[in-house]
Amino acid sequence: MSDAPSVLFIGDVIGSIGRKALRAALPALREEHRPTFVVVNGENAAGGVGITSKIAEDLFSQGVDAITLGNHSFRQREVWSYLDEVKEIVRPANYLPSMPGHGSCVVERDGIKLGVLNVMGNLYLDPGRQMFTLAEAEVEKLLRQGCDHILIDVHAEATSEKVAMGWEFDGRVTAVVGTHTHVPTADARVLPKGTAYITDVGMCGPRDSVIGVKKELAIEAMRTKLPVRFEPSERDPWLCAVLIRAGEKPLSAVSIQPIQVSPLLY
Ligand SMILES: [Fe+2]
Ligand SMILES: [Fe+2]
Repeated sequence: MSDAPSVLFIGDVIGSIGRKALRAALPALREEHRPTFVVVNGENAAGGVGITSKIAEDLFSQGVDAITLGNHSFRQREVWSYLDEVKEIVRPANYLPSMPGHGSCVVERDGIKLGVLNVMGNLYLDPGRQMFTLAEAEVEKLLRQGCDHILIDVHAEATSEKVAMGWEFDGRVTAVVGTHTHVPTADARVLPKGTAYITDVGMCGPRDSVIGVKKELAIEAMRTKLPVRFEPSERDPWLCAVLIRAGEKPLSAVSIQPIQVSPLLY
C-alpha cells in the first residue's frame, strides 16, 4: 500500500533571501520527507511585499504545487492578470469578488486531489468580507470538486481568529495552518476530530530582522514614530514549515510536524 499523502507547507517567503533559502533547502526537505504536495505562502516574496509573475513561475518551476498569499497580494500591479489566469496561485477568498484572482484551487498528484484555500482574518486586517462564511462556502465548493484533502491557509493577525478557525473546521478539512505573523507558534497538533492545526507556521526569511524587516529600521520607526522606509533584511535565513501527514480517511490528518531549518546559502 502506498504511503498516505502528505503536504509540506512553507510559511511566508520573504524577499530574495527567503527565495534563496527555499531554493537551498527544498531539495533536501523533499528527499527527507517525500511530501506529496508542496504549498508555499508567497505574499512577501517580491522584496518583502507581494509577488510577481516571474517569482511565482520560479516557485512553480521548483515543483511547488500551489502558492497562497495574504494582505500583500496586490502590491505588485504586474501580477494582477497572472492571479486571474493561473489556477494554482490563490489570494484570500474573502477579498471582494471584484478584485483580481481567486481564493482556492485544486491540485492533483498520485491520483490525490488537494484543495488549497486561502482566507484572511477580519481583526486588524481588511479583506472586505467575513472570513468564516466565505471559508465555509469555499470548502463546500472544494468538496463538490472532489477533493480528498483540503488545506486552509488562514492569513491573520490575531491568534484568537486562527484558533477559532481551527475549531470551526476541525473534522471538516485536513489542515488549518496560520500565516502572516512570521513568527512560528508552538501549538502544532491534530485537533480532536482529525484536523491538523498550527496558529502560525512562521516565515522563510531573515531571522536577523523584525519579522523580515531590517531590525534597525523597524526599531527606529517604533522609537521615533516617524516614517521610515522599510527594507527586508538579508541576514540569517531560516525556513519554517510544517509537514502534515494525511489520514486514511479523507479530510483527516494523523500528524503535523513543525520544521525549522537554517540553510547555508553562501
Ligand atoms: Fe507575510
Ligand atoms: Fe501578511
